[in-house]
Amino acid sequence: MNTKIDLQNIDYKKDFDALAEKYNLNVSTSGKDVCTPINGQKLGSFDENFGQDLEESIDALNTAFAKWKNYPAPQRGELMRKFGNAIREAKEDISKMITLENGKVYQESLGEVQEAIDICDFAVGLGRQLYGLTMPSERTDHRMQEMWNPYGIVGVVSAFNFPVAVWSWNFAIAGVGGNVVIWKPSPKTPFVSMMMKQVWDKTCEDANLSWAKDVLRLHLGLNKQAEDICYNSNIRVVSLTGSSDMGQSLGPKVTERFGKLIMELGGNNAMIVTPNANQKLAVKSILFSAVGTAGQRCTTLRRLIVHNSIKDELVTKLAKFYKTIKIGDPFSSDVLLGPMISKESVDKMQEVLEHCKDNGHVVYGGERIDDRFVEPAIVDLTSADEIVKTETFAPILYVIGYDNLDQAIAIQNGVPQGLSSCIFTDNLQEAERFIGANGSDCGIVNVNIGPSGAEIGGAFGGEKSTGGGRESGSDSWKQYMKRSTVTINYGTDLPLAQGVKFDVE
Ligand code: UN1
Repeated sequence: MNTKIDLQNIDYKKDFDALAEKYNLNVSTSGKDVCTPINGQKLGSFDENFGQDLEESIDALNTAFAKWKNYPAPQRGELMRKFGNAIREAKEDISKMITLENGKVYQESLGEVQEAIDICDFAVGLGRQLYGLTMPSERTDHRMQEMWNPYGIVGVVSAFNFPVAVWSWNFAIAGVGGNVVIWKPSPKTPFVSMMMKQVWDKTCEDANLSWAKDVLRLHLGLNKQAEDICYNSNIRVVSLTGSSDMGQSLGPKVTERFGKLIMELGGNNAMIVTPNANQKLAVKSILFSAVGTAGQRCTTLRRLIVHNSIKDELVTKLAKFYKTIKIGDPFSSDVLLGPMISKESVDKMQEVLEHCKDNGHVVYGGERIDDRFVEPAIVDLTSADEIVKTETFAPILYVIGYDNLDQAIAIQNGVPQGLSSCIFTDNLQEAERFIGANGSDCGIVNVNIGPSGAEIGGAFGGEKSTGGGRESGSDSWKQYMKRSTVTINYGTDLPLAQGVKFDVE
């Protein structure tokens, strides 16, 4: 039983101080406190005024942009290659800092940093593949083509749960395209952002490209600093990652000034398990995607939609496995569930579970261990409940029964969010139905894989209140680039399109 977790005697600050010294981090003695969620110990503070001179940053970014956009894309890719290698070298340090600041288990922090390395590798190739189409013109001696040019300053507002990976998708891709980036990280994870900035700066210095340090500027702060970025019309593109509420409040500030918006917001992801599923695979996948990262991924599995013929059996199996999950110090190799990010998150989870109990649903686990740690919960719904439409950023898994696949797909799609989804089945017809036009309405649609843990090679993002943006791989780079449609006349005549005659003698 996970009755008590005593980590009070562990000195996490010592590890933090060593990293802060090694990476020359700007740790302040006053300002906004940053405490590790693991045992509440204060790690340091960051000066809320740090980086607050937005105008100064914008000037520096514009100066860097003037050079960076003219620096050939394959050479920008070469700098990203070096950056990726520098991250490889610092992988363990960065991962340690992620765990200290946001409490995710160390294994998962390593995975997160690997995403940053992978996207740098992706960007290297992309530097030679910013392809534009060539189209046949309807006019004689004319040619049409698309050119992709950078916008300029891209604002990146990132969240506490993936403080490195999500930013890196934006930075590497926007950067190789010739843009410069201003980064507003979560106030819960400022130090790992400072670390990434140091690694970037050192990469530029080692490459004798000191001026390129200003391709990236940090803008630490709270909501106010995120708002300033959204309002500022010098920042042409803003990429927002966080809750749907955050997107709803900040997004319009970008669009009202005709800025370009890329949003990756709430998930509320589901898995359908059909009677034709390999249940062993499904159970393994449920455990990782519902409990991993303490239920604090935007891709976390929140709704399990199971055929009624196998529902009780599956819930019994899961409840048994849930009890064996080791909860505690995220640095311990046998621990799978670390702390929640804050006491507020623990309180919120308990509030939702109380609601579930009051409404007669069957709740397994979910006990509050202390202000930081919780047991993961399974809620077997006994009747329809609107609560499943709201995303609670905690390890709560709702189980919903279904009788036929169309009904299951309707349940899967019947929420405001649309990020990630999956089906477990060995039946081809069921799988194809799920991925087709009558299937999932999400941006990520998996078969025999859970909803979380996506690879960087694909486009990442979702529909509806998830915001519609796409980041990371595939052709997501196009979101950070201005498409010009170019028509070239290499003849001696001036024919008009659509055969229009407009002759003057
Ligand atoms: C997020 O939670 O914002 O697919 C990103 C995943 C990770 C990224 C999650 N590769 O779960």
